[in-house]
Amino acid sequence: MTVAFRTIAGGESKLLFEKSQSGKEGVFLPQRKFPEKNFSELVPTSLQRKEPAELPEVTEPELVRHFVNLSQKNFSVDTHFYPLGSCTMKYNPKVHEDIASLAGFASLHPYQPEDQIQGMLQIFYELGRALSELTGMDEFTLQPAAGAHGELCGMMLTRAYHESRGEGKRHLVLVPDSSHGTNPASAAQYGYQVVQIPSDARGRVDLKALGETMTDQVACLMLTNPNTLGLFENDILKIRQVVHKKGALLYYDGANLNALLGAVRPGDMGFDIVHLNLHKTFTTPHGGGGPGAGPVGVKKMLAPFLPLPLVVKKGDRFGFDYDRPKSIGKLRSFYGNAGILIRAYVYIRMLGLEGLKRVSHDAVLSANYLRKKLSAAYFNPHNEFCMHEFVLSVNNLESKQVHAADIGKRLLDYGIHAPTVHFPLVVEEALMIEPTETESKETLDAFVEVMLKILNEAQEAPELVRSAPHTMPIGRPDEVQAARKPILSFRDLRGDHPTTGLSAEGR
Ligand SMILES: Cc1ncc(COP(=O)(O)O)c(C=O)c1O
Repeated sequence: MTVAFRTIAGGESKLLFEKSQSGKEGVFLPQRKFPEKNFSELVPTSLQRKEPAELPEVTEPELVRHFVNLSQKNFSVDTHFYPLGSCTMKYNPKVHEDIASLAGFASLHPYQPEDQIQGMLQIFYELGRALSELTGMDEFTLQPAAGAHGELCGMMLTRAYHESRGEGKRHLVLVPDSSHGTNPASAAQYGYQVVQIPSDARGRVDLKALGETMTDQVACLMLTNPNTLGLFENDILKIRQVVHKKGALLYYDGANLNALLGAVRPGDMGFDIVHLNLHKTFTTPHGGGGPGAGPVGVKKMLAPFLPLPLVVKKGDRFGFDYDRPKSIGKLRSFYGNAGILIRAYVYIRMLGLEGLKRVSHDAVLSANYLRKKLSAAYFNPHNEFCMHEFVLSVNNLESKQVHAADIGKRLLDYGIHAPTVHFPLVVEEALMIEPTETESKETLDAFVEVMLKILNEAQEAPELVRSAPHTMPIGRPDEVQAARKPILSFRDLRGDHPTTGLSAEGR
């Protein structure tokens, strides 16, 4: 079967996607060690295969080339500049991979008894302590597997806390209109009614509207600081006062902590619950949907409700603590994504507090460097000192019918991953840019040059931008279908796909 791919050079080529040919071999399996006649005794007939497994038959070099070629059709932090706002796509140091793959870590089995995994438990314990120090919280669970999973954990903790005080009637969760979609989604998923608080002209939470909405029915306010416009919520202490005065909790979405490491702590700003995205701030790899880690930290009064088990230190030994009768229960199999937790621990230990401060300093510096240069040409509705990211708007290109997504697509032609587009929703035609601290000045300058070139194209030859990308194997997939009904197997490429109705040639 052949599938049409547009080559990087722009031409059309037919690549043989299905490589399997009967009789080819890439692995040599050991001989079966038990005699044929015993096979039926060992494996009941009902469990035996009737047909040979339908496995691809390819040689090793063909297999390697197939996957390496496929991987090169994608963008990644290891191949391209990736200024995807809010996602903190910073470089993942390779030393983390070396350490996480040491046999002493990688070969552990999660069911091993505590006395055989003391080193791993020590890492869990010390990582929890380090995150507590960095955020100003009292205790952490490392179980949640993503930021959104951390948010769900936070909602469960919120309800358990209020119910324990006889205040289970609190059914509202407040979110600013600039909030990330997972915030209202997590709250609604857990049965809360979500109320949106508008932003004011400065792009911050409208304090007056917040005051008017706060009642004793509110369970918590979910906030990220800096917010998704990359602006620090300078009124955070006033916000805390308004929220706490009505007995509600303050929830910190830590996706933007990369701006604040070692400078300001959410715990000191008054937050009661915090989730962190280790795959952002602590540079563990992002993977399509995981595995990530979204540890959740809480103030003392919420610690009894944390998920089971917690890792504790007993004398000079480490162990799991299941003795928390008020716990919300187990949130994740075993103790979360251990390999990811190791990588974050290594990052923190390698950099130390001074190194982490430098991370945030440089992330903010890079963002402001780009903001200054780009806001001279692009429209920036909140053009003031920003934190680790900033948001431009291309709504002034409306007459050219060029949208934010088109600019993102055109960037691909120049070898740059798109910024986040059309988010946050409070900015029309938003381009949200987060360069991170790991990019050189040369890369930032090259990005500015390309952005200016694209702006010129949008004005002089808008069709070129509207129809981009022109150099990618796949141009504009149906992103909703791609996310909801992904084609995950080459088998789905055979014949007409049942969900998209597209033929192999059409995909
Ligand atoms: C501000 C903000 N909050 C929450 C999340 C959700 O985190 P995750 O993707 O780890 O579930 C994101 C992810 O991009 C985010 O940017």
